[in-house]
Amino acid sequence: MKLLVTGGAGFIGSNFILYWIKKHPLDKIMNLDKLTYAGNLENLKEVEKNPNYEFVHGDICNPQLVNSLTKNVDMIVHFAAESHVDRSIQNGLPFVKTNVEGTFALLESARENKVARFHHISTDEVFGELPLNSKEKFTDVSPYNPRSPYSASKAASDHLVRAYHSTYGLPVTISNCSNNFGPYQFPEKLFGLAITNLLEGKKVPVYGDGLYVRDWLYVEDHCRAIEFILLKGTVGKTYLVGGLTEDISNVEIIKKILRIMGKDESSIEYVKDRPGHDRRYAIDWTTIQKELGWKPLHNFDEELKATVEWYSKHENWWKDVKSGTYQKYYKAQYVNR
Ligand code: NAD
Ligand code: TYD
Repeated sequence: MKLLVTGGAGFIGSNFILYWIKKHPLDKIMNLDKLTYAGNLENLKEVEKNPNYEFVHGDICNPQLVNSLTKNVDMIVHFAAESHVDRSIQNGLPFVKTNVEGTFALLESARENKVARFHHISTDEVFGELPLNSKEKFTDVSPYNPRSPYSASKAASDHLVRAYHSTYGLPVTISNCSNNFGPYQFPEKLFGLAITNLLEGKKVPVYGDGLYVRDWLYVEDHCRAIEFILLKGTVGKTYLVGGLTEDISNVEIIKKILRIMGKDESSIEYVKDRPGHDRRYAIDWTTIQKELGWKPLHNFDEELKATVEWYSKHENWWKDVKSGTYQKYYKAQYVNR
């Protein structure tokens, strides 16, 4: 089988490629990535010489390129996106370009080349927010209610994917997953930023009251869910993928990280809140469990420790990405406001 993976040099995409090559060594993978600030070929060092792996440097918004690459592929696994809420608040345009226009170009090429499966990686953030201290969860039938430019652009891409199924019969599947954590996460997202700031002797910025809740999933569990959907999923369906069953607030997570790293709470710095900050996410993943037999295999506390250890041991990786343009972003987000 031949897979075209988009955004495979990013956090989840690179974890997926490493996972897939281990589990399905005979399959061919072509990784199309623009290498934005978030793309890093260092993540894929261990497979770069594998004859079944090929990297193509390019933009999913380029219809000619995408069309030429899509010929003879069996499945498109579409990760490529602008993925960070705070950046979408600073400037939404790249989000509309890549997440909407790029997805459109890929769908057109999949239709043209009769690709056997188009799998779209999406987020639980398209459903908006849930109230704090409630038992409510997002389900397969939750209405869309995106509240940030990021989630609005992902919602638009989900709608396009569904429309290509109803209108043209394109064999699509969608997964809406909760927040991932693990190795190779760009240190602009909560876990990577908190751990690397602490390793640098800096404080951890906590937005607002810190009582926001996300549903956290270890990245390899997400990769396994995508594998199950690609191999056993029902065409036309959306699967919700999530992790924790108990709510945990951002500040509780930061305190766990502080304990693992032997630091005290003086390393927490409460900062101005994110505008339109979604209060709580929680996922009901019983459909993928019942239908495909998937459930998270990794324990949150163990993987949190392992993630801290990974960043501690890969200082060169995050020091490189935290230099250059990252500094500009950090100043705009945390200092100059
Ligand atoms: P990321 O920002 O780490 O990586 C995105 C990758 O896409 C990068 O390698 C980047 O170079 C590439 N890319 C961006 N624009 C491109 C373009 N125009 N053409 C080609 N490549 C381009 O993102 P991530 O955290 O790995 O997320 C991957 C996907 O999973 C996204 O679609 C995101 O919406 C979704 N998702 C992420 C999470 C999470 O917690 N990170 C949770 C649920 C869903
Ligand atoms: P993030 O990792 O950006 O993911 P998302 O916004 O897509 O859920 O943020 C996770 C949570 O952590 C979210 O509630 C915002 C909060 N947060 C902070 O409190 N401080 C930070 O420096 C960052 C990056 C996030």
